[in-house]
Amino acid sequence: MFSGNLFVPSVEFTVDSMIENPVIDTILDHKSVRKYKKESPTEEEIETIVRAGQQAPFVSQLYSVLLSRDREKHPFKAPLMFTICIDIHKIQRIMDQRGWELITNDLSLLLFGMQDAAYMAQNMVTAGESIGVGSVFLGRAIYIAESIKDEYDLPEKVFPLVQLAMGYPDEDEPPRPRYPMDLVLFEGSYPELTDEMIETAMESMDEGYLEQDYYSKLGAKIGLSEGEDEYTYDDYSWTEHMSRKWGQWYESMETPMKQLRACGFDIVPEDQ
Ligand SMILES: Cc1cc2nc3c(=O)[nH]c(=O)nc-3n(C[C@H](O)[C@H](O)[C@H](O)COP(=O)(O)O)c2cc1C
Repeated sequence: MFSGNLFVPSVEFTVDSMIENPVIDTILDHKSVRKYKKESPTEEEIETIVRAGQQAPFVSQLYSVLLSRDREKHPFKAPLMFTICIDIHKIQRIMDQRGWELITNDLSLLLFGMQDAAYMAQNMVTAGESIGVGSVFLGRAIYIAESIKDEYDLPEKVFPLVQLAMGYPDEDEPPRPRYPMDLVLFEGSYPELTDEMIETAMESMDEGYLEQDYYSKLGAKIGLSEGEDEYTYDDYSWTEHMSRKWGQWYESMETPMKQLRACGFDIVPEDQ
C-alpha cells in the first residue's frame, strides 16, 4: 500500500496506489508561502479558516488564536498574522466555575496543549489552502513569548506556541520534498536504519531542494560559527541546513524556560 517514491513531489508522484480526491490534492499541494499580495483575505475567509481550525481533534480545546492585521510589521509582509497559543486559562476558568482545582502538572499541560494548538494550526493551513489562502509558520513565538504576552495582555498559563502568516500567495512554488516512505512508516518495529537508507534519504532531500534553488532563492544559508564555509548555493541544501541549525543553535534551555515561566509555566523548578 505504501510502496513507491513519495519523496520528490515537485517532480511527480509515482506511488502506485495513492488515492486522489480534492482533500488529498490540497494536502499534497501544500507549500509554505513567503510572498504575499497586499490585499487581505476577506472576513468570511478568515472566519472559515479559524472555524475549520477549531474542528481539529482536541484534548480539551487548549488553545486561543490571536490575530494581527498590521501587514507592515509582519514577516514577509503577510496581510494577516495569527499567533496560536496553548491556553490553559480557559479550562481553568471553567473548572473554577465548577468548583474544581487544576492539579495537572505543567509539563503534561504543555504537552497536551501543544497538540491541541498544533492540530488546530495545521487545520487552518489546510483550510486556507483549499480556498486559495497561503501561509507560513513562524517558529519565533516560543522565543518572544513574553513580549507577545505583553502586547496582547495574555493571562497566566497562555503560551504563544507558533505564528502563522497568511494571505493570498504572490508566488507559485512547487511542493517541497519529504523523506522516502521507508524512512517514515515502520510496521511492527523500528528497523535498523542502514547507512544506505540514510544516504538515499539525504540524496533525495538535497537533490529536491537544489532542483528548486530553494535556499538560494531565499538567501537562507546559515553561517558557520567556526571554520571556513566551503558550501555555495550550488551544493548547500536541506541536510547541511538542518545540520547547521541543530548543530549550532539553541544549546541552552535558558531562554525557552524563561519564556515559559513568564507565561506561568514552570516545568523545572528554578533552582535546578
Ligand atoms: C514550527 C514551525 C516553524 C517554522 N518557522 C519558520 C520560520 O520561522 N520561517 C520560515 O520561513 N519558515 C518557517 N517554517 C516553515 C518551514 O520552513 C516549512 O514548513 C518547511 O521548510 C517545509 O516546507 P513546506 O511547508 O513548503 O512544505 C516553520 C514551520 C514550522 C512547522
